[in-house]
Amino acid sequence: MHDIVQDYYGRQLRHSADLKTSACCDTSQIPTWLKPLLARIHPEVLSRYYGCGLVCPPLLEGRRVLDLGCGSGRDVYALAQLVGTTGEVVGVDMTEAQLDVAQKHRAFHSDAFGYANVRFLRGYIERLDELDLEPGSFDVIVSNCVVNLSPDKDAVLRGVRRLLKHGGEFYFSDVYADRRVPDAVRNDPELYGECLGGALYWNDFLRLAHRLGFMDPRLVTDRPLAITDPELASRTGNLRFFSATYRLFKLDALETTCEDYGQAVIYRGSVPGHSGRFVLDKHHDIEAGRVFPVCGNTWRMLRETRFAAHFEFIGDFSRHYGLFAGCGGGLPFDATGSTEGTSACC
Ligand SMILES: C[S@@+](CC[C@H](N)C(=O)[O-])C[C@H]1O[C@@H](n2cnc3c(N)ncnc32)[C@H](O)[C@@H]1O
Repeated sequence: MHDIVQDYYGRQLRHSADLKTSACCDTSQIPTWLKPLLARIHPEVLSRYYGCGLVCPPLLEGRRVLDLGCGSGRDVYALAQLVGTTGEVVGVDMTEAQLDVAQKHRAFHSDAFGYANVRFLRGYIERLDELDLEPGSFDVIVSNCVVNLSPDKDAVLRGVRRLLKHGGEFYFSDVYADRRVPDAVRNDPELYGECLGGALYWNDFLRLAHRLGFMDPRLVTDRPLAITDPELASRTGNLRFFSATYRLFKLDALETTCEDYGQAVIYRGSVPGHSGRFVLDKHHDIEAGRVFPVCGNTWRMLRETRFAAHFEFIGDFSRHYGLFAGCGGGLPFDATGSTEGTSACC
């Protein structure tokens, strides 16, 4: 599969528009705050963007970020501006042609930003331990439409966990299916290259995350994908695909379900660019100044991470009240939304 993917992204595709699904979002969906950052990125880097979501979580200044499958580097150069002079962004990709574009424009970007804080490494995301990266050294690991392309997703998540600091997070956009992808679709090189064949059934992804120690994956955004090429669509039959952004925190004490300890948080409104509300995930849109009841896992995701200073915390773990109301169950994605990309994305 590595050879098929390298051929697809290194030789067959020349530009974002060559993709045959709506996985790569339309530029009208770019959030306003991201536009000035993208405006400083070299046009050749932008033209070879093949991502399916937005992988820029808040509060990155001064942080170390790793981008798995960075391609031509669009997200690396956007994140470089968010981590600033005291942070660092490292991009890893296996495809030489994509990395060449990323490397070629390093000086252009350091001139534009006024500092140099990015590195690119050639390597496989299943073998991150072979790269010169210190375990427990990254605050945030991102990835944009890449994990589905990996033939060994266990190894990817294991490597991610090893490289994250305690309280760090894997914040990544990817493609998921509403059921297990049959072999005929999985073994079709074009469907695989288009990020469909290797997509995980969403519930298998949740099981995989649990198995690798990420106990409570949080869905941030999702949208249904349209397969715009009719011939390709006919080969996928009744399968439905979704682009989704999840965040997985490296926190040892997380539980498999949301348990209620009677806790609450109050958001101080102090995260730059998010004074009115803080969105942890699709189900936690926390208004500033308001007492917001949370389960034990959400408490830890805010208390033991880079977000802690921005919250007041009420309660502790001394008393358990059962399962937190409204926790879990069923297809997590909005299946009825427009397939043209309705959520905030790339
Ligand atoms: C769909 S493109 C996304 C590229 C980039 N994230 C972006 O948003 O433009 C997938 C990228 O992942 C890389 N890739 C896929 N599988 C990989 C693997 N196992 N190890 C390293 N890179 C991989 C490909 O070379 C390609 O550049």
